[in-house]
Formats: sequence, C-alpha cells, structure tokens
Amino acid sequence: MTSGQLSRAGALACSGCRHACHVMLYCDTKTQLFGRIPIRHIILMQMRFDGLLGFPGGYVNPSEETLEAGLSRELLEELGVALPISAEDHVDCCHAPASSPSSTSRLITHFYVKKMEEEQIKEVEKEAASTATDHGQEVLGMVRVPLYNTKNGGGLAPFLSHSFIGNARSQLVDFLLRLDMIAPEELHKALAHSLKIHT
Ligand code: GTP
Ligand code: MN
Ligand code: MN
Ligand code: MN
Ligand code: MN
Ligand code: MN
Repeated sequence: MTSGQLSRAGALACSGCRHACHVMLYCDTKTQLFGRIPIRHIILMQMRFDGLLGFPGGYVNPSEETLEAGLSRELLEELGVALPISAEDHVDCCHAPASSPSSTSRLITHFYVKKMEEEQIKEVEKEAASTATDHGQEVLGMVRVPLYNTKNGGGLAPFLSHSFIGNARSQLVDFLLRLDMIAPEELHKALAHSLKIHT
C-alpha cells in the first residue's frame, strides 16, 4: 500500500537519514454517540508534550533495530503495551519537510496502520493512562478521532482545526480515505470547515 516515490528499502538505503516510525491503531465499533450518531471507528492519536496532536511512535535507529522493532519499543514506552508491528503494516514513508531552509537533518517518517479489535484498543487506552512510562511526560494523553460531523459543525472539522506535528494531519486525512473510513464528500466538507474555524 506504499505511495509516493520512496519505498521502505529505498528509505533504508539513505545513509545519513534519521528515521521515525508512527502508527495509526484503529478498530471498528458499533457504539453510537448519544445513542444515535454512529462512531464507526476508533482511531488513536495522542496529545504530545509539545501541545501538538500526533500518532504514537518515535525515532528508530535502523543500525540497532529494525524499523518495526523500534516502533514496538516506542509503543511500549508511550502506550505501555508491547504491540507487535510487522513490515506488512508499513504503508508509507516520505522525507519530512525541512524544519528550516538550511536544515540538513534529513528525517524520513514511516507510517504504519494496524487494525485491532475494539477490546484491544480499549486495553491500550487503559495501559497508556496507567502503566506507560511516558504518560504525563512525553505523552499527555491518548485521544480518539471524532469521525462524525454534528448538525452544528462539531466533530471532525474542529478536530482537524487543531495543530498537528509534522505531517500527522495529512497522514490522518489520507488514510481515512484510503481505508474507506469516511465518504470523500463528508471529509472534504470537514476539511473546508476546519480551515474557517480559527479565522
Ligand atoms: P523522543 O523520545 O523525545 O526522542 O521522542 P520520540 O522518539 O517519541 O519521537 P517523536 O514521536 O517526537 O517523533 C520524532 C519526529 O517525528 C518528531 O520530531 C516529528 O518531526 C516527527 N513526528 C512525530 N509524530 C509524528 C506523526 O504522527 N506523524 C509524522 N509524520 N511525523 C511525526
Ligand atoms: Mn454528557
Ligand atoms: Mn517516544
Ligand atoms: Mn513519540
Ligand atoms: Mn524515542
Ligand atoms: Mn523518549
């Protein structure tokens, strides 16, 4: 499912590049908000120490660990659960936009998606708020993404109007579409509305 010009192997061949791996953990749910608005999917993101929203994961050093072992290590730190991640869950990688025009850091961000059972997702949320070593430090809390739009403009639009780390926002939007979690028209409406919220 890899898109863009950079393959996993191509990314790993870059000498002098740093690598970061993040994952979208999600499940289906039959739960309804207020007993009438279908929630459809639970998608886990986090409020980071810097006040930005992002996916769980972090820096990986491929000379010491595989990308997937490194991501599992980060998930243990941030979520308190050792989730196995496989190379098949790798769905995208790209060069992060340079933090400054003169920046030479060359960060490659790898993205994974992993579908789970609702009970597993709830267990992750429980551990993330209790046993995870990063809880209250690098990670301020896990948050679920509201996929619905309420009549008075609540839901996905205001969620997307928050500030995100790196390209986490476009990773979210991209895979909501690619995994068929939202209708394109509904997503485009929420995106358009999200841009008007703070102006
Ligand atoms: P430290 O333990 O403090 O090093 O943090 P970490 O290893 O958990 O790293 P972090 O999760 O902050 O990710 C490393 C870098 O990847 C960040 O500085 C961002 O540039 C980028 N990044 C973080 N989260 C995301 C995300 O959800 N999506 C994308 N595309 N990039 C991210
Ligand atoms: Mn209430
Ligand atoms: Mn971390
Ligand atoms: Mn992290
Ligand atoms: Mn780290
Ligand atoms: Mn850390």
